Amino acid sequence: MQSTVIAPSILSANFAKLGEEVDNVLAAGADWVHFDVMDNHYVPNLTIGPLVCEALRKHGVTAPIDVHLMVEPVDRIVPDFAKAGASIITFHPEASAHVHRTVQLIKSHGCQAGLVLNPGTPVEVLDWVLDDLDVVLLMSVNPGFGGQSFIPSTLAKLRRVREMIDRSGRAIRLEVDGGVKADNIAEIAAAGADSFVAGSAIFGAADYAQVIGQMKAAVAA
Ligand code: DX5
Ligand code: ZN
Repeated sequence: MQSTVIAPSILSANFAKLGEEVDNVLAAGADWVHFDVMDNHYVPNLTIGPLVCEALRKHGVTAPIDVHLMVEPVDRIVPDFAKAGASIITFHPEASAHVHRTVQLIKSHGCQAGLVLNPGTPVEVLDWVLDDLDVVLLMSVNPGFGGQSFIPSTLAKLRRVREMIDRSGRAIRLEVDGGVKADNIAEIAAAGADSFVAGSAIFGAADYAQVIGQMKAAVAA
C-alpha cells in the first residue's frame, strides 16, 4: 500500500489570493495540490488553465501539482500543462478519442498519467491500460462542481479497483475525488483508496491544519 496523500482541490480556494491559499494548505500538511480544469464543454463549468499552473510554480510551489483535466479534447492541452509544471495529469476516457495514446502522450512529456472514472463509468475501461498508469482516480461525485455529496456506490467500486491494482503488482495510486470529508475518509481508505482529494472540506474549514490532521489520523487509525 502506498503512503497517504491528501490533495486539497483549489476549486474551493479563494482565487483572489490563490498563491497564499496554496502556501497555507501545504504548510498545513497537504501533500499534493489538486488542480481542477473545466472547459464548459466536457463539464458544465469553467475554471483555470496552464497559465495559472505556471503562476503557482513561479510563486514557488514545489509540491506535486495533480492536474485533473475535465476537458475535451484532451491531447492538445497536455503539452501546455507539462510545460506549466504539472506533475500528474489525469483525464477522463470519454474525453479522449484514443485513451492509450493520451496516456503515452502524458508520459512522453515527463508527467505521471492517470485515468479518471466517473460514477457511471465501468471499471473495465482500465483493462489493457492499467499497466501504463501511475494513478487511477475514481470520481465519487459527477464532475463539474465542488461541494457535492459522496456517492456511496463508490466504495464497492474502490474495492474492485483495489483488487485490480493489487493483481497488477504495480505501484499505482488509487485516488478518490468528490465529497471526501474527515468523517467519511476512514471508510473510503478501508475500501482501498490511498490518495484523497478534498475541496470544500478543507478550504471551507477555519483551520486547514486541523482538518488535514483529522483526515490523516482517520486514515491511519
Ligand atoms: C469535481 C472536482 C473535485 C471537487 C471536489 O468535479 O473534480 O476535485 O473540487 O470538491 P469537494 O471535495 O468539495 O467535493
Ligand atoms: Zn478533481
